[in-house]
Amino acid sequence: MTVQDKELVPGLAGIPAAESSISYIDGQAGILEYRGHRIETLAEKSNFEETSWLLLNGELPTKAQLNGFRKKLNGYRGIGDDVVEVISKLPKQGHPMAALQAGLAMLGMESPVIDVHDAAQREDACARLIAATPTLVAAFARARAGKPFVAPDPNLDTAANFLYMLNGQKPDALEAHVLDVCLVLHADHTMNASTFAARVVASTEADPYSVCASAVGALKGPLHGGANERVLEQLEAIGSAAAVPAWLEKMSASKGKIMGFGHRVYKTKDPRAKRLQTLVREVREKLGSTPVYDTALALEDAVVAKLGAKGIHPNVDFFSGIVYEKLGIPTDFFTPIFAIARVTGWLAHWCEQMDGNKIFRPGQIYTGVHDATYVPIDQRG
Ligand code: SDX
Repeated sequence: MTVQDKELVPGLAGIPAAESSISYIDGQAGILEYRGHRIETLAEKSNFEETSWLLLNGELPTKAQLNGFRKKLNGYRGIGDDVVEVISKLPKQGHPMAALQAGLAMLGMESPVIDVHDAAQREDACARLIAATPTLVAAFARARAGKPFVAPDPNLDTAANFLYMLNGQKPDALEAHVLDVCLVLHADHTMNASTFAARVVASTEADPYSVCASAVGALKGPLHGGANERVLEQLEAIGSAAAVPAWLEKMSASKGKIMGFGHRVYKTKDPRAKRLQTLVREVREKLGSTPVYDTALALEDAVVAKLGAKGIHPNVDFFSGIVYEKLGIPTDFFTPIFAIARVTGWLAHWCEQMDGNKIFRPGQIYTGVHDATYVPIDQRG
């Protein structure tokens, strides 16, 4: 059977692109597992560093392994003065995800060139990328705000360090914990578009910095990680719970996509959306009300009533922005936070791809012409 005889599957929906043991989704039941552990358990009992170890190594770390990993991350959080300097010169009107792509490329330029077939060198590169990605994101935020770069504090973990480098002051324990839970929830999600992009680039034996920079490009899109930023804009545009019915009517009439809803795999409420929703409640109780939350609840009820039967429910992006806004994070930095977490998943997939790698080179169904005649330019109509 030739490629021409095969049937096209748009977006490769449901077509296996790899075998993987990193994470698992049951879209009908709304289940997500990292290395067999339910996401609800990890969000409650684990933390980003432990979850990163789990995703990278396949099992929970011992105390010694976790302490060693934390120490390694703390040693790799810094970025070179040249990188800080260039980030401070990037176009301020540019999107922070573009700045992160540039930052990851530069991180690769100042890091050791590795043999992608050497597991120990891969492990070291993973630690460098997981450790330094938050620093790259915070560096652009500070530069854009006209504030001096804040170097990472070796005594803080990933979530606390990011808030410290962003705001120039140590975060309170609640804020750091809330962000840490968000990072756990966003760390991996089977063969999503940005992870697939990572695997394709990995399959060419490119370096891990290029793998992650490519994945950032995919995550930036509004149909993928870029949705979280647009959800908040959407809720602010709706304005109030009372305005939801009219807004939804108009959106449905124009066949527009409602940001934060729907999923290729989940046909019920995303389990991460459920945990993020409880985080919103926790944050509201302790840090004050979030006006957009009432609009969000009304929108969820209305959309599920109208489209729930089609499997359209809230996804991970629906509540995350409300949490980040309460933490004082600028809206266009919501997706970079998604990337700070997902870099672990992309790297776990990079390592898995390198074990028994085969370069991705799919076919196509050709719909063009053959044997075209070359007409000289002065004879073309
Ligand atoms: C993420 O893949 C992952 O795992 C991604 C992610 C991860 O952790 O990596 O979970 C993170 O990207 C979450 C998704 C964030 N994106 C959005 O919130 C943007 C809005 N959502 C949609 O664009 C859409 O739901 C997708 C892109 C998420 C999924 O699209 P599919 O699977 O390609 O479905 P589709 O576009 O073919 O839609 C099927 C039907 C259509 O109706 P019909 O033409 O059949 O009548 O459902 C409708 C769509 O119009 N539909 C929506 C909708 N999503 C699907 N209608 C209105 N609003 C929506 N959000």
